[in-house]
Amino acid sequence: MAIQRAWSWRALKDYLQWRGPIVIALLVLRELLRPICYWHAWHIFESNLAQKMPPPYAKSECTVKIHDAQEDRHSLVSLIAGMGELQSEEIRSRLDRGHLPGIAYSGDQPVGYMWLAFGGAVDLWFGYDTYWKVTGDEAVRYGSFVIPAFRGQAIHSLLNASMNAYARQHGIVRTLGAISILNPQSLAMPKRYRKAITMTVFLARVRGINWTIRQSFGAPLESRLFWRDAKAATETQVLEDVGRR
Ligand SMILES: CC(C)(COP(=O)(O)OP(=O)(O)OC[C@H]1O[C@@H](n2cnc3c(N)ncnc32)[C@H](O)[C@@H]1OP(=O)(O)O)[C@@H](O)C(=O)NCCC(=O)NCCS
Repeated sequence: MAIQRAWSWRALKDYLQWRGPIVIALLVLRELLRPICYWHAWHIFESNLAQKMPPPYAKSECTVKIHDAQEDRHSLVSLIAGMGELQSEEIRSRLDRGHLPGIAYSGDQPVGYMWLAFGGAVDLWFGYDTYWKVTGDEAVRYGSFVIPAFRGQAIHSLLNASMNAYARQHGIVRTLGAISILNPQSLAMPKRYRKAITMTVFLARVRGINWTIRQSFGAPLESRLFWRDAKAATETQVLEDVGRR
């Protein structure tokens, strides 16, 4: 995944401010171990759309539009790329797989997005050579991003609520999401909603021998994930890019 790496001083300051010393220490340790092995741990959350969803708690007036495949693709790619996280190639690849971006606007200004991927037809990549196990009436919410100047206004909660509402209108009964345990900013929302963790997944890739270690806590790994033989090394890079968040 082509996450842009143009670190500004402001981005670095935000990172230090919001992640906290323990998370930063773990991130530094992970980078130091990178030549030998790289690892990730996520909490998986599920939302049953038959139940009443908790309301968003956004502090600013924003609207969310879910952009479907019929739209002018070139403009959509530029719009998302312009927010500074994803490169055009990655956005096109997501759109090619039928994933839908929900974009938050403050007036006319795009200020953030979240992606929705429907289960069933296409394999949904989770990490390394591991994939989501989702049925045709389930969908995965992923890749939430809010531009730095608009963070802290709970636009993330508005995106989340909008994606769930859209999914429900389109026959989806359950949405799933995975959040890195090293991302307290993203974990703030399930914490506020007191959402139960469905399971915690640990994935590690040992370099050289290309060995993937998979472990779950709270539920069997096979209940939500499946895997194949190790795939191209590019997937390793993709996951490590995501891990920089
Ligand atoms: C994770 C992210 C989408 C949250 O969006 P958001 O709309 O800022 O979410 P919230 O306003 O609810 O803030 C969440 C937490 O961020 C932190 N935060 C608060 N103000 C902030 C600010 N000005 N800047 C950065 N983080 C801030 C707080 O810890 C807050 O939790 P709290 O409400 O319990 O205090 C956003 O931080 C982001 O885009 N991060 C980079 C990409 C990323 O990590 N995506 C997650 C993929 S799962």
